[in-house]
Formats: sequence, C-alpha cells, structure tokens
Amino acid sequence: MLKKFMIIPALLFLVFGCSNTKEAAKMAEEKPVIPEYVKDPHSFSRPWEAVVTHLSLDLVVDFEKKTLDGKVSLKIKTKENVRELYLDTGDLSINNVTLGSEETPTEFRLGEKVDLLGRPLIIDILPGTSIVNIYYSTSPKSGGLDWVSPLQTAGGKHPFLYTQSQPIFARTWIPLQDSPGIRITYDAKIKVPAELMAVMSAENPMEKNAEGVYNFNMPQAIPSYLLALAVGNLEFKATGPRTGVYAEPELVEAAAYEFGETEEMIVAAEGMYGPYRWERYDVIVLPPSFPWGGMENPRLTFLTPTVLVGDRSLVALIAHELAHSWSGNLVTNADWNDIWLNEGFTTYIESRIMEEVYGVEYDRMLAVLDKENLIREVKDLGSDSPATRLKLDLAGGDPDDGFTGIPYQKGRFFLTAIERAVGREKWDEFLRNYFDDNAFKNMTTERFIEHLNAELLADNKQLSDSLDVSEWVYGVGLPGNFPEVRSNELAKVSKSASNWVNGGSISDIETDGWTTHHWLQFLRDIPRNASREQMDELNKTFGFNESNNPEILVEWFLLAIESDYQSAYPALEKFLMEVGRRKFLKKLYIKLAKTPEGLNWGREIHEKVRFKYHYSTNLTLDKILNPEKM
Ligand code: BES
Ligand code: ZN
Repeated sequence: MLKKFMIIPALLFLVFGCSNTKEAAKMAEEKPVIPEYVKDPHSFSRPWEAVVTHLSLDLVVDFEKKTLDGKVSLKIKTKENVRELYLDTGDLSINNVTLGSEETPTEFRLGEKVDLLGRPLIIDILPGTSIVNIYYSTSPKSGGLDWVSPLQTAGGKHPFLYTQSQPIFARTWIPLQDSPGIRITYDAKIKVPAELMAVMSAENPMEKNAEGVYNFNMPQAIPSYLLALAVGNLEFKATGPRTGVYAEPELVEAAAYEFGETEEMIVAAEGMYGPYRWERYDVIVLPPSFPWGGMENPRLTFLTPTVLVGDRSLVALIAHELAHSWSGNLVTNADWNDIWLNEGFTTYIESRIMEEVYGVEYDRMLAVLDKENLIREVKDLGSDSPATRLKLDLAGGDPDDGFTGIPYQKGRFFLTAIERAVGREKWDEFLRNYFDDNAFKNMTTERFIEHLNAELLADNKQLSDSLDVSEWVYGVGLPGNFPEVRSNELAKVSKSASNWVNGGSISDIETDGWTTHHWLQFLRDIPRNASREQMDELNKTFGFNESNNPEILVEWFLLAIESDYQSAYPALEKFLMEVGRRKFLKKLYIKLAKTPEGLNWGREIHEKVRFKYHYSTNLTLDKILNPEKM
C-alpha cells in the first residue's frame, strides 16, 4: 500500500542550502520532498494516494467573532486514478470547495466526527487536479486557537491570538493533512486589526504596517504541527545577526535581555550537528495562558512569559526549542508513537548545548535533577506501565498523552547511554550524518535502530549486547544500564540541607552564588513532613512565598501542600490564578487532589480561573480534578 517516492539528495541540498529563499521556494514547489509515508492512526489523510505539498492561506482574523475566515489553496500530487482527497478538520465550517486556479466547483463531504480526531473532509478531484481551494471558517471553540482577552495580556489593552498546532490541532484552524510524516511549504496573507501585528512560523515582518495586512512565505518544508500564527500588540527587537524577540512593548526589553545569549547557543549547536537551516531564529513571548514552556515553531519559537525571571537562569528552555531545529523540525517523527525521536533527541541536544555554553558542571546539575524527575515519574506511571516504553502505542487515544517525561528523559538518557558506549566522537559523527541524511524527512523508531545498528553496533557484539537497544526502546521501566549522573554542586546542596534538617543552624547554609537549580535541589531535600516551625524558618530566611521564579515556587508549593503549610496558600492561589503553564499546574493540582480538602480547594480555584487557562490545560485539569467523570 505504501508508495515510495524517490528524492535526490543532491537536489535537496540545492533546495535547502539555497540562500535565495524565493528561488528555493520555487524549486521546492517543483520538486516537493515526499518521504515514505506511514499510516498515521491520528489522521484521516491518505498521503500515499494524494498528498498536499504546499498551502496558500488567505485569512481574516476577527477578534469579535473569534474566528479565522477565508480560503486555503492546497497544491497536491496524486497517484493516477485517485478521485478523492482526504483531509483532517476539527470544528471547521467548510463553505465551498473549488478545483484549479479557474475555481471549478466540486463536491465535498464531511465524514462522521471521531472523538479527538475531528472529521475527515473528502473532496472529489479530477485526473490532473493540482490545486484545491477551500473556503472555510474556524469556530470560537477551535482547540488550536487561544483568543486571549486584553486583561490577560501584559499591556491590558489589546487582544491577543496564538495558535498551538502540536500534536493534532492544526486541523482546528486549517483543513489539511494533519500528520507529522507529511511536509508542506506555505505562504499566507493574514488580515488583522490595524493596531496589531501578525507573525508566523515563516519569514516575518519586523514592523507593523498601517493596513494590518501581512504576507508570509515559508520556503522550508515543515510538518503541519509546526504551522503557527500569533497576533497581538507586538514589537520586535534584534538580539543578534539572526536572532531577535517579539513581545508586547511592556516585555520586549526584558525578553531581549533574558534571551541575549541565543546566538551562542546556535553556534554551539551548529558546531556539533551541522548548519542551522532555517535562516533566522526568533522567539515570541506569549500571554501567560500559553500551556507550554516553549513550542519549537520554525524560525519563531513560541514562549511562556514565565521564563522572564531576569537572570537568564531558565534558558535551557531556549536550548531545548532551538535543538528542535535539528531533531524534530528537520528529522521528524513519522507519527506520534515515535515522539521520543523528537523529544528525546532534543532533550539530549539541549543538554549538549548547555554543556557547551555554560560548562560541564552546570549541565550535570540539570542532568541530576532531570534524572530524579524521571524516576519520580516512572514511579507515578508504574514501572510496568506501557506508557514507560519509548516506542508508544497511542492509536485510539490522545496523542497528547504520549508527552510524559518518558520520551523526553528516558529518550535522552538512552542517547547518553549510546554516547558512553561508543564514545562521544563516533556518536557525534553519527548524529551529524543522521541529520544531514534525513534532513526534511520523517523517521521511525525502526529505521533509526536499523541505522544505529548498521553504523555503530554491527561489528561489536559485546557492545551491542551491553547496550541492549530493544530493552531501552520496547521495554518498560528503566533499564539496568541506566547512566550514572553526578553533580558535586548538588551534592554540596544536599549536604547543607541535611545538616539543617538534622538540627543545624539555618545561617550555616551557604547560599551565595546559588542558581535556580541549587534551590530546586535544596527544596527537594526537605522532608515532606516538615514542621510548621521549620517551614516558617525557611520562608522567613529565603522568602520562598515571594520568589519570582516559577520553577522555585512550584517546588516550594509542592513541599507546602505535602507539609500542610497553610501560610503558603495565598501565594499558591495567586500563582494558580496567574500562571497557565500546564507543566506547573498539572503538578500542583495533582498534589492538591491527594487529600479531600486539597481536592475541594483545587476545584474551587479551577472553576474561578478556567476561563483564563488554555483549552488543552483545562482538559488535563478536568481529568485530575474529576477523575470519576472521565
Ligand atoms: N514540542 C514541545 C511542546 C509540546 C509538547 C507541544 C507536546 C504540544 C504537545 C516543546 O518542545 C517542549 O518540549 N516544551 C517543554 C520544554 C522543556 C522540556 C524544556 C515545555 O514546554 O515544558
Ligand atoms: Zn520539545
């Protein structure tokens, strides 16, 4: 059933190594990159019959109606005899469909709605059809669009809109083939209210224009989950020759400072894994409802405002999103069961970038904390749970559920294990070639393993036995050869924590020069049944309730909830009311839900604040707070 289209690597190089982007786009249009397709359980599309290679969007952003309204033209390539094009949609109204630039009317139908997946849009096409035009509008409840009211923005005066397409929400704002194994180039014309500015995962404007009409071009082919749009009262500030920040005017200076070292990270990554192929790397700071820390939309990473802490201590997040420019955006998981190929590789590269830019000891601190997190998470999931496998089976379920710490950290430490087994030099060379050879293509777990065996393990049975790739990838829990990680810095922190816990004086704790990560370790080392007096002493001495660092606050609140330290609750309530980042909220509400009083209080807060949180965050929290209804 699978049809394999051929691509010529030399041509690929020509297309994407091309400095003139218009020319590159033209060439990409003529010779679209068509990889080997898998049947994606989370998409209705049938790319082996007819595949979309380019999108042209023409949309009006209406903040009053909370809709996008307009037209998308799809360029398609079809196999002979195929008379239907299958697309994905979610909560879209399809008004009309035509074929070709002459806009010949055609028939279309929407199939039955399937939970989580939306509805297939099936369009009749003719032999030789190469363009399909769809007139449509989104619904105010489209899950991929967050319409943020002015009060929920930094400036408080203008509304804000941002999209979140990963994993399967692109279909809620564009009818398309919504599967990560399929790549498209795109262009767009977006009309917004004149006082706002639009940006996309594409070549972006640096200034507002008086008409509020923005034209975009994205010459590099990307999977649909990387389609992205944001509209708001935005300003741009450059931070380097190919880096800059977009943010509301109130935040733009802080953002430019916080992310001022991005160019160094790009240089470090390029030194290890080959050229950055997306020309610019800008970031945009979104309103607090943004459910993620960051989202690796190409050319324009989307970011939570919670990383603007003023001391650049949370920039591992940038290293992470930047790393996706190789792992994920360049070489992409073929479907969501292979998500570890994106997130695990990215977490590994993130750590290599951090080591390169901030030194070995700092990176080790991060690694120790990450390993602890992973161990906790495996315990929570159950060490024999199928969710602890790297290769997942998410068919019939929500692909969002696959994004646990497993693909990120078990995936990352698997690569650390390979690195240690074969040696850094060989492993780095392997990775560099892996990205070159598979650039702008998809990847499956099985093809990666084949590759790894052929290149690095084939002639060394002992090595391959001791590494035990299948146990890592298909086994549950954590394997016996899980890498050791140690940090002297954190060991010192643990020592001072335990001295204090065992009756030492709090003034003996030497906190000079402590980073966020020292504090995280310190808080984790405080016993969960800390007394009220102990908690008071900690809070008085270190001012945890007033911290402006969300990572530290969350660690503190987790301790406070478990120790029933009521004096932290007003600060906790404020945090829950203001911060929309799902990772934090999930941990806090889960902890609250462990006692009946906590659960009640958590429900009350959630009801008050749910209008501010992102749709997907509310879905997650509803499951935590009302398990019996799910
Ligand atoms: N691609 C993810 C964000 C994402 C995951 C969106 C799943 C939709 C579904 C992004 O690269 C990410 O991993 N973000 C993390 C960063 C952290 C691990 C440094 C986050 O947001 O916390
Ligand atoms: Zn990621």
